[in-house]
Amino acid sequence: MKIIKAEKLKEKPDQSKLGFGKYFTDHMFTMRYNPEQGWHDAKIEPYAPVSFDLATTVFHYAQGIFEGLKAFRNEKGEIRVFRPEENFKRMNRSAERMCIPKIDEKQVLEGLFELLKLERDWIPTAPGTALYIRPSIIATKIALGVHASTEYLFFIILSPVGSYYAHGLAPTKLLVEDYYTRATVGGTGESKCIANYAVSLKAGEEAEKKGFDQVLWLDANEKKYVEEVGSMNMFFVIDGEVVTPALVGSILPGITRKSCIELLRANGYKATERRVSIDEVIEAQKNGKLDEAFGTGTAAVISPVGMMEYKGKDYVVNGGEMGKITKWLYDTITGIQSGRLEDKYGWVVKL
Ligand code: COI
Repeated sequence: MKIIKAEKLKEKPDQSKLGFGKYFTDHMFTMRYNPEQGWHDAKIEPYAPVSFDLATTVFHYAQGIFEGLKAFRNEKGEIRVFRPEENFKRMNRSAERMCIPKIDEKQVLEGLFELLKLERDWIPTAPGTALYIRPSIIATKIALGVHASTEYLFFIILSPVGSYYAHGLAPTKLLVEDYYTRATVGGTGESKCIANYAVSLKAGEEAEKKGFDQVLWLDANEKKYVEEVGSMNMFFVIDGEVVTPALVGSILPGITRKSCIELLRANGYKATERRVSIDEVIEAQKNGKLDEAFGTGTAAVISPVGMMEYKGKDYVVNGGEMGKITKWLYDTITGIQSGRLEDKYGWVVKL
């Protein structure tokens, strides 16, 4: 693989003020696709703007997908990447749904590892920080007909990040959305396609104006079952049982979600994937049986939920505090990621 190094390196940001997705490293990985050559021209090159014709497919019909994963660096200088194969497997499932040619998972993993080695000094080490990895594929054919593109750009960019929410680990406030819809079964909800995020913006803006952090989506058909938050999968602890919405086709199969289920089950907790109605959650809260609620995601890690509003009424969860299972999952996942805890499950790739 070709590596073109940047002539001038940027100044690294202050690790206590990273926020989320504001800074980008010195290099990126790119490759192109066309029908004659397949995926080709894989290279690491200086991070820089790329120009596109305004008739490029992705701008008009949103044929694009992405992933999000994280790398960590510990005191020993070890680079630790959390379950990267899972992300590229999921990327190929999203590719299939969006008529995008599949990538060679091994090739892009190798490209990512080379990029991480080159950018190792960008991996922050302060507690609660990580290097966020954003692989993406966009349709680059210049054409206005509504067809799948025949040309694509794959890229990986890297961003040192702190916590996803400006308020860090403080419990979030969610607005249960009973009008707008994020996804339907048969649609693209279970794919990580860029359009899923565009359709969520309106409800998100309205919720933010009312003082909420995010929207909790319900199923599109009946507005009855809890789906996900958009940047997080949801979990509830109801009467001692950890419950998360089953992957019915309109919910993103989160890798942190999957890791939490595996961790909970391996440690003797009852963790169930099933449909969860919003009425069940509200009833549990009213009866004092909603012990905890939290979201999971690469960016959000494990985020406690302190309050939910549904049909104009507020429902406080666990006195607005982070619950015990939420805290245990947060400590365990971040412990495995950083190397503070043993990686019993073989989730971390060390470079
Ligand atoms: C992630 O957690 O990596 C996500 O993709 C969520 C969001 C920042 C879009």
